[in-house]
Amino acid sequence: MANVVANVVPIERLCEHVGETVTLQGWLYHKTGKGKLHFLQVRDGTGICQAVVFRGNVPDEQFEAAKELTQESSLRLSGEVKADPRAPGIPGGYEVDVRGLEVVQIADPYPISPKEHGVEFLMQNRHLWLRSSRQWAAMRVRAVIVRAIRDWLDGHGFLNVDTPILTPAAAEGTTTLFSIDYHGEPAYLAQTGQLYNEANIFAFGKVYCFGPTFRAEKSKTRRHLQEFWMVEPEIAFCDLDGLMEVEEQFVSYIVQRCLAECDAELKVLERDLTHLQKVTPPFPRIHYDEAVQRINAAAAAGELVPGYDDPVPAIEWGDDFGSPHETYLAAQFDKPVFVHHYPTQVKAFYMEPEPGRPEVCRSVDLLAPEGYGEIIGGSERMSDAQKLVEAIERHKLPREVYEWYIDLRRYGSVVHSGFGLGVERTVAWVCGLDHVRETIAFPRTLTNMRP
Ligand code: 4AD
Ligand code: MG
Repeated sequence: MANVVANVVPIERLCEHVGETVTLQGWLYHKTGKGKLHFLQVRDGTGICQAVVFRGNVPDEQFEAAKELTQESSLRLSGEVKADPRAPGIPGGYEVDVRGLEVVQIADPYPISPKEHGVEFLMQNRHLWLRSSRQWAAMRVRAVIVRAIRDWLDGHGFLNVDTPILTPAAAEGTTTLFSIDYHGEPAYLAQTGQLYNEANIFAFGKVYCFGPTFRAEKSKTRRHLQEFWMVEPEIAFCDLDGLMEVEEQFVSYIVQRCLAECDAELKVLERDLTHLQKVTPPFPRIHYDEAVQRINAAAAAGELVPGYDDPVPAIEWGDDFGSPHETYLAAQFDKPVFVHHYPTQVKAFYMEPEPGRPEVCRSVDLLAPEGYGEIIGGSERMSDAQKLVEAIERHKLPREVYEWYIDLRRYGSVVHSGFGLGVERTVAWVCGLDHVRETIAFPRTLTNMRP
């Protein structure tokens, strides 16, 4: 066996090695067979394939060893790759006719069996649950989404400039701050990199930061994590309309990359692809005023929230949307929908008010279809120093720590805009997952930060 290890082929590449003898190394996912045959379902991190062990083809002690293999035992095997459209696996269609088998470790009885388990149990065993095919598929889609994000931005003139995680000031409201002690000075984990991005555009034009962000969210929902990843592009000389154009190009590219590269993963997840195939520019755009009218008309008519048994709740002009409102609105369109010009009072301090109508601001959220809610929040930024000072005071924020931010409006201020796309909500939507806890390897939720 030792001399063939150099020939290790990942399962996702078996299709390129039909007729060749290759080595696989991985773990036993499942085993069936009787008499002279064992069918091993082997996973190696890139896929799952069937390895057929026939008594006459391997030394006797290896055939006996195959019998002893338990779920998740680690192993190495070599054999000939055969194309067979009926062969099960991910992606399937290829199997290995085994000629040599080496057991690396016999696994203890594995706690996660193919039977149903409760979510709480699975979350406690997240370190093992990640090996299950649906979790595997979701993490692979996530990686493609991250790659697509970087490729699109890098290819469109955005410079990646990362922003600090330890920060002295709030940017997205003071109620969700995680406080820490910075050598005796109060500090917070970053809720966003945006304010620093705004400094960076004056040096680099178009930038993005991409990293973990932190929010001490007190509510337990299927869309909120305490720690999540956000990509935040920021653009000089860009207004609200320009921003929406960038967003629809960007999101469409991400979805189309997943469709092109994640065929096997989306199959494992049993994702209905018809919704995703429609995600191409342009996206519909509605004003907050119109959104309120649509919601209240539906509420008056007693319409139900799609996918739920509850009626659409009415909304007062000036209030932020709850998730039933977002779900209802998004269901009116077959693509993601932009809702722009939210009431100033429900949005962050830095958003530019609409000229002549300051009760609404030049903000835009992008709502994903099928009940996934807001995946992007963004806006045109306030570009006037005096207006910004007033907003900081109105929001009762400590002016000293924002002085540098106000400075940006003193030295060559320009119209500028940016947005933040939440990776986990995007993964949930693309994968068709019910809850963001399955979109990141080790989720941090209100009730759980273990393992
Ligand atoms: O709308 P948000 O709060 O916007 C900002 O933070 C801006 N500073 C971004 C910017 O303009 N540069 O958050 C942006 C996105 C949301 O649309 C959502 O996808 C995600 O971040 N998000 C969360 N995802 C998971 N868990 C949470 N607790 C989240 N909070 C926001
Ligand atoms: Mg938001």
